[in-house]
Amino acid sequence: KPRIFSGIQPSGGLTLGNYLGALKRFVEKQDEGIETIYCLVDLHAITVWQDPEKLRQQTREGAAAFIAAGIDPARSILFNQSQVSAHAELAWIFNCVARLGWMNRMTQFKDKTAGKNAEAASLGLYAYPSLMAADIMAYHATMVPVGEDQKQHLELTRDIAIKFNNDYGGDYFPVVEPLIEGAATRVMSLRDGTKKMSKSDPSDQSRINLTDSADIIAAKIRKAKTDPEPLPETVEGLKDRPEARNLVNIYAALSGHTVDQVIRDYAGAQFGTFKPALADLAVAKLSPITTEMNRLMADPAEIDRILGRGADRAEAIARPIVDRTKDVVGMIRSR
Ligand code: TYM
Repeated sequence: KPRIFSGIQPSGGLTLGNYLGALKRFVEKQDEGIETIYCLVDLHAITVWQDPEKLRQQTREGAAAFIAAGIDPARSILFNQSQVSAHAELAWIFNCVARLGWMNRMTQFKDKTAGKNAEAASLGLYAYPSLMAADIMAYHATMVPVGEDQKQHLELTRDIAIKFNNDYGGDYFPVVEPLIEGAATRVMSLRDGTKKMSKSDPSDQSRINLTDSADIIAAKIRKAKTDPEPLPETVEGLKDRPEARNLVNIYAALSGHTVDQVIRDYAGAQFGTFKPALADLAVAKLSPITTEMNRLMADPAEIDRILGRGADRAEAIARPIVDRTKDVVGMIRSR
């Protein structure tokens, strides 16, 4: 029986990239009737410094975003990672399965330490992908909806599962399937079409946040970097036009149309026409989510209760899987 697991870091407010690349698709998977487990990965968030009060706030805000976007905590399991100790336990075992050479090839670690002193990065940041493998394998999840940037981590998850199975001579862990689908698997910065839209970009103009007001969303899209050409007549015409391609992809993902359809509808249009249409669409899709998030955030105790109930249900699945793993590894469990 297929089971989906995915996570988002509560290391800042969620962006349009998180929404289109992940959250919107989490909701679609839930609505397809698949068993879905979604996690605010606070253990991952602290691999870089997080102010404790902000971390709590961002975790609640993340949960509110999930629910506002359409995650139903009765149908999906929604919780924060640190409440289920199985993640950290399995991550330690996986730390002893993963090889240093594999970790050294992780491009996200290289990106996150680029231009900085890598020696000053936390050990947790380095081991990050091994914890991610544990998140997924603690539920024997086989399908993981993510954006393009997580692909390498899912390949590592496969490698860890395969090596564990080989080392201990069995079929303990399944092989995961990354679900990287749709028009917005890599939403780019509004200021630079070659850079990923990210919650950690120093420029707020580079991203749309799920908490942005309608006016701010419209202004950011109006000021988004573009080239001087009108939109092309065919999809091939988007080649070497990263900013134009990005805005078209965003339009497609928000509207639920294909990129082909969007190009057909706006062939030859100037950005002076296309940008206001995109802004209207973005506001129409995002404003109801923002409004609902704000409503939910007014009752933080209720959010905490939802996360607690989700953690109980997650624990009930993960506990026996991690216990079995310990048995396989040769650890005594006598209580
Ligand atoms: P995080 O918190 O960076 O991002 C959460 C999800 O959003 C996607 N995403 C994007 N998609 C399209 N365009 C963008 N600009 C963009 N930015 C982010 C990410 O691909 C991701 O799907 N390591 C993960 C969290 C994680 C996880 C897991 C995911 C921890 N354990 C287990 C899946 C399964 C991360 O940092 O995501």
